[in-house]
Amino acid sequence: MPRLRVRTKTRPHEYEITIGRNVLSEAGQVARGCLGRQAQRVALISNKKVFFHYGPVVTASLKADGFTVWPWLIGDGERHKSLRTAQDVLSFFSEAELDRGDGVAALGGGVVGDVAGFAAAAYLRGIAFIQIPTTLLAQIDSSVGGKTGVNLPAGKNLVGSFHQPAAVLIDVQTLSTLPARELVAGWCECVKQGAVSGPKLFKQTTDFLSELKSPEGLVYSQLERLIASQCAFKASIVAGDEREDIARRDRRSRRILNFGHTIGHALEAVTNYRRFRHGEAVGLGMLVAGQLSKNLGLLDASELELLNEAVSLCGPLPSAGDLDQNAVIGAMRRDKKRTAGQVQWVLLEHIGRPRIVDGKEISPQLLRKSVREGLR
Ligand code: NAD
Ligand code: GLY
Repeated sequence: MPRLRVRTKTRPHEYEITIGRNVLSEAGQVARGCLGRQAQRVALISNKKVFFHYGPVVTASLKADGFTVWPWLIGDGERHKSLRTAQDVLSFFSEAELDRGDGVAALGGGVVGDVAGFAAAAYLRGIAFIQIPTTLLAQIDSSVGGKTGVNLPAGKNLVGSFHQPAAVLIDVQTLSTLPARELVAGWCECVKQGAVSGPKLFKQTTDFLSELKSPEGLVYSQLERLIASQCAFKASIVAGDEREDIARRDRRSRRILNFGHTIGHALEAVTNYRRFRHGEAVGLGMLVAGQLSKNLGLLDASELELLNEAVSLCGPLPSAGDLDQNAVIGAMRRDKKRTAGQVQWVLLEHIGRPRIVDGKEISPQLLRKSVREGLR
């Protein structure tokens, strides 16, 4: 069973990621290990769907290790990643009389993890929290690295905090109940991390996807290894740039993890977050970023082909060819991930060799051509 130790500059300074099958029953042991003997209560944050499948085993495990478990279910879906939900969760912590020695466990996808982590970061100026991610996207990306937060009506993730988890417990078996479309979204994020990390992780990811004929055909032992490699890569980038320093533009900057996000966020915004899952939009965003990299003379046509093939291996993506390109480009310019008024593009010089390029270095004509070609 893969276990990774992750070092962080901020508290808890070190945490463990455990990856395996049927490991939810270790939740109590993991919580006791990182919260210590004095901890008495765990607030277990989840949603109805995930709790139905996995709440009982996690609760039983926590109780067996001596914790009083306080479950709280938030609404399902991105629209519940809000200040209102965070406020309800915070009030619940207070009603449950959580003190600074107690902990929070987030059981669910990225929405549950981001909200629960944010509430844990704010309550009593920060209490420990454990990530128990149950979507592929959350297992390889959002549960690692300490970004937590909620959306505002004006945009996604506009309020948040960096708050590193005290432990991450990944049970790959939970993916057996995940809808196929959520898996596709997760594979896109796997390709994204492969594309900016180096040829090895990219190959491991595409080899895995090439052999995967259907969601039922998952080979869990290989999947555990892939998730471990993905988490190790993400943790290594976060270790060097925990708070995503806006002055950095080098290829170990945390920003490289936003590959595909410039257009991805714009696609989500122009469709009112209704057409695409986040990972699907990132998949399409990578096609545009790859095309733009080639059109700028950075990326060879044969490597663009490899990237496009990798995205197609993830599974079917909703069409974006009908969307108004000017609206997509306009939404991109309004995105919060600008610095000094400019979009910072994560592009590729090679597969595994990202380069951050300032938006002002890209002509509007070339951008329009790349968006058209990428989304075709
Ligand atoms: P999600 O949390 O909405 O989960 C997707 C759906 O799957 C939901 O309906 C959920 O109830 C369901 N589900 C979860 N686990 C299941 C399981 N095992 N079986 C059956 N159904 C299950 O979506 P997501 O893709 O996990 O996360 C997206 C969110 O993550 C976005 O808000 C995004 O901004 C955020 N995110 C955060 C980071 C970070 O670093 N913090 C990184 C990437 C994305
Ligand atoms: N998902 C991007 C990051 O954690 O920085």
